[in-house]
Amino acid sequence: MEMLAGPWTEDPEFVKLYDVENQGLWDIDFYCDLVVRLGAERVLDIGCGTGVFAVELARRGIQVTGADPAAAMIDVARHRVQEAGVGHAVSLIQGTAGEVPASSFSAAIMMGHVAQYFLSRADWDQALAETFAALAPGGHLAFESRNPQGMDADAWDEQSTRETQPHPDGGEFTSWLEVVGMEHDDADGPLITARGHNIFPDGRHITADEPLRYRPLPVLRASLEQAGFEVQQVWGDWDRSPVKPGSPELILLAHKPR
Ligand SMILES: C[S@@+](CC[C@H](N)C(=O)[O-])C[C@H]1O[C@@H](n2cnc3c(N)ncnc32)[C@H](O)[C@@H]1O
Repeated sequence: MEMLAGPWTEDPEFVKLYDVENQGLWDIDFYCDLVVRLGAERVLDIGCGTGVFAVELARRGIQVTGADPAAAMIDVARHRVQEAGVGHAVSLIQGTAGEVPASSFSAAIMMGHVAQYFLSRADWDQALAETFAALAPGGHLAFESRNPQGMDADAWDEQSTRETQPHPDGGEFTSWLEVVGMEHDDADGPLITARGHNIFPDGRHITADEPLRYRPLPVLRASLEQAGFEVQQVWGDWDRSPVKPGSPELILLAHKPR
């Protein structure tokens, strides 16, 4: 068994499996519908990953800038945009929300639990400040974060998560998750590290550790307000149900005041 030295998002072999493992469309449908309902014409897709959402928005006639610091993710996004023939509507940058022009977007979306990648409170506050600066007055920010009150970390073990699926290059790969770290933080919510295991078609067994921050709703609300946003709505799941203690997600919609 071998362990990746850096994050999986920087490793082309792991990135190749990301879209195979994340084929559900519920979050994409949710945010596409939201962006259309808000009437947003220019969208910043923060942590755009492999570009699936950016392409879906472009197909709806929306201009998108996708930003992601991981070169391996952006490479896949570039191919996807080219293959979909939507290059006229999508710009991709390898970087963060701090590298886009100020006051130029009508909406910013962080989907795929990108908000949980900002591990320290200082990094999260900076990401919100950069997003606030990127939005035009009246612009919206929407994102989701897993609800620390609704998760069952005990279910993240090999028995519940092990799956064997076709590998995009032929053969099959097997993957599962294991929780290897849990640090409690009363102020900012727990930091949980999951180890992703992959057995590739040639038999190599490679693991990657991913720490994610699980901020409770009061912390998310307070950090948005501190950055200057007004929180408009909060949902507890993709069916737009309200937040309950056991809700799996915290999905927030906020706006920059005019
Ligand atoms: C789970 S992936 C989600 C990708 C995509 N949004 C999706 O829904 O499929 C998380 C992404 O967040 C990106 N990310 C990590 N730190 C970031 C930062 N500071 N700014 C923007 N994106 C970041 C990672 O590189 C990765 O592509």
